[in-house]
Amino acid sequence: MTEASQLFDAGERLDTAALRALQLERLRNTLRHAYDHVPFYRQAFDKAGLRPQDCRSLDDLARFPFTTKADLRANYPYGMFAVPRDRIRRIHASSGTTGRPTVVGYTENDLSLWADMVARAIRAAGGRPGDTIHVAYGYGLFTGGLGAHYGAERLGCTVVPASGGMTARQVQLIRDLEPRIIMITPSYMLTLLDEFERQGVDPRGTSLRIGIFGAEPWTEGMRQEIEERFGIDAVDIYGLSEVIGPGVAQECVETKDGLHIWEDHFCPEVVDPVTGEVLPEGTEGELVLTSLTKEAMPVIRYRTRDLTRLLPGTARVFRRMRKITGRSDDMVILRGVNLFPTQIEEIVLRTPGVAPHFQLRLTREGRLDALTVRVEARPGATPEARREAARIVAAAVKDGIGVSVAVEIVEPESLERSVGKIRRIVDLRPR
Ligand code: DLL
Repeated sequence: MTEASQLFDAGERLDTAALRALQLERLRNTLRHAYDHVPFYRQAFDKAGLRPQDCRSLDDLARFPFTTKADLRANYPYGMFAVPRDRIRRIHASSGTTGRPTVVGYTENDLSLWADMVARAIRAAGGRPGDTIHVAYGYGLFTGGLGAHYGAERLGCTVVPASGGMTARQVQLIRDLEPRIIMITPSYMLTLLDEFERQGVDPRGTSLRIGIFGAEPWTEGMRQEIEERFGIDAVDIYGLSEVIGPGVAQECVETKDGLHIWEDHFCPEVVDPVTGEVLPEGTEGELVLTSLTKEAMPVIRYRTRDLTRLLPGTARVFRRMRKITGRSDDMVILRGVNLFPTQIEEIVLRTPGVAPHFQLRLTREGRLDALTVRVEARPGATPEARREAARIVAAAVKDGIGVSVAVEIVEPESLERSVGKIRRIVDLRPR
């Protein structure tokens, strides 16, 4: 047994048959709980002609209706709660770029489950009791900061609750308090990198050994960049507030081959984003999640809009999901071609002469949409190197994605920096 597997919790030690049996039992309980206590689910199941007891196998889940963000909005703020208000211990909310936010609630048990899931994630990332963890996810209604915080405490770590922002101070805290682990969005990690360099501090010389990055899509190219520049292991953490927050899935440091979904508590499906049909394992589509043990706000077949594929487990019994390609909302359709910011990220990160900072500007020229990729030059890149970089990026987009874009190489440090989730697409098209 490896050192890590000695630390596995009971769920991680199940074999596949026991895991599937546990999932089915929990799924049936969750369907019953949702049906009995949330009018939205009762109506939806009734409309589909289904009762909770009609779920006799895990495959039967596919017969039940989906839940969408619009459903949560329509039931704002407390309509999706399945327990009396006095059992709710905490509220979080997602900002929601348009319209009402969505509110989520947790009972005492839900908070404990969440802490367990994040503790398991940190351990899978290589964290151990006694480690110091710098948490630079935002604290507040966003689930990143508090989610990471209680998980780290649950594992027995020392937490530095830095939250997002005040970048110069973040660097100071890392130098002084010597954390071994940082939890932060990948884009904000790049902002920290600039700050280390501004202060003349070698980012490879710090105490940091592990970075747990999530809350936004990031690519293998970005992993390589961050690992090399900081001299750390960079692993991916996934989650969403509607389902619980961070800690739904986590990449194991020993394999770095996609994220193991904590299937004993969350049941994944991948569906065709258009038809809603369940896709076979390995096919890319939209991730749909069902909570199996949550009390305050069970979610049945929640459409995440995140695009990925399911794969068999490796370092754990649980199935994996591939690193997320993007959200269907962030997909740009340009002259009939679908394009994701992560595809541009891969190209930018392998192009010499440019920094890993880029932005996508969408405009309209006549009746057609146009995309300009703005990328920062590396400091010291000559005018020739910049022209060459622009040519390489444009050609790689044309060859790899199949669409023509304009590429502008901009001055170092001229694009907006992230302090949390980065906004890659600036949509300047007339409404
Ligand atoms: O972002 C929870 C979180 C916090 C996850 C910290 C990981 C670390 P929301 O604000 O509700 O919750 O946003 C959820 O963020 O549907 C994805 O589109 C995106 N997302 C989260 N993690 C990843 C990831 C948190 N590892 C939405 N890779 C999700 C790609 C991610 N996208």
